Amino acid sequence: MKDIILTGIRSNDEPTLGNYLGAMRPMADLQRKFAGRYQINMFVPDLHSFTTPIDHSTLYDSSIRNLKYFVAAGLDIDDPNTFIYRQSFIPAHSELTVILNNFTGFGEMARMTQFKDKSAAQNDNVSVGLFDYPVLMAADILLYGAKYVPVGEDQTQHLEITRDIGLRMNHKFGELFVIPEETKKQVEFMNLNRGLRIRSLSDPTRKMSKSIQDPRGTILLSDSPDAAAKKVMSATTDSVGQVNFDWENQPGVTNLLQILVLLTGRPQDEINAEWTGQTSYGELKKAVATAVRDFLTDFQTKLGEIDESRLLDKLSRDEMAMAEVANETLLRVQRAVGLRQKK
Ligand code: TRP
Repeated sequence: MKDIILTGIRSNDEPTLGNYLGAMRPMADLQRKFAGRYQINMFVPDLHSFTTPIDHSTLYDSSIRNLKYFVAAGLDIDDPNTFIYRQSFIPAHSELTVILNNFTGFGEMARMTQFKDKSAAQNDNVSVGLFDYPVLMAADILLYGAKYVPVGEDQTQHLEITRDIGLRMNHKFGELFVIPEETKKQVEFMNLNRGLRIRSLSDPTRKMSKSIQDPRGTILLSDSPDAAAKKVMSATTDSVGQVNFDWENQPGVTNLLQILVLLTGRPQDEINAEWTGQTSYGELKKAVATAVRDFLTDFQTKLGEIDESRLLDKLSRDEMAMAEVANETLLRVQRAVGLRQKK
């Protein structure tokens, strides 16, 4: 049995260049790096999608569309150790959540900072689903016995509550679950660049994000290469008048340098050495615009070449295989808590 690396890929919004650089390409790199030695579970947490305002009429298609983007970013769907599935196609996720809810304290959930932030922002729209989001996430992880869960800073608390719930149940009922490693070990193991944030081109103090409705600052992977290049050319910079890699004081320019590093694959030091001290922001923008245009042209070609039916076959095969694994864990839990006869 190989150790499992598990990751959930949210797919509400149209993917951006930020998603590509921060999630899609790192996922493909991770797969390449660990291929053969680990099992990789990569799933679409479609039930989690309801916790932010979404368009229900496009949810189904956007799950598949976003998976195609991952494939275009280099994810290999023929790797026999990678399983790709949609959460809601495996009912055990929901069933385990209902059970775990009863072993989770209201108080510990009320401390989740993401819930506090999101509920403050959404005020009238705070559902029980949003509150319960971390328990569903715990079920996602515990069902498969995943040891490594590469997540961003914002999900650290959720990973910790997963460990707490799992350990608590193991303590009460014996060895029910494999517990994921502590966050610190995870980060070391995967050597994640957790600080990576691509910022909005129009407001570089904010993350590049479709959900903040910022068409000028956001490059969508579906933008035409020319339109995307234009967005780069009109990016917000500063009045310092000299290029420096400095998130604090020159976030706009620094964001452009960061994009250049990631798209060209050249080392940060080399790019910084080349641009630091230059006084023409226009030149920097031109270099970035060219890199973005070339990238999108190539990416969209790859996207157009994907055979959707092969992806759908892969999904249904993997959903069957993973349902079997998940059901085994669920049955073990059901027996432990008294819902099924003991063996
Ligand atoms: N909450 C994660 C996010 O917003 C997505 C997610 C859901 C997830 N379930 C998961 C990630 C389980 C890792 C493991 O990005």
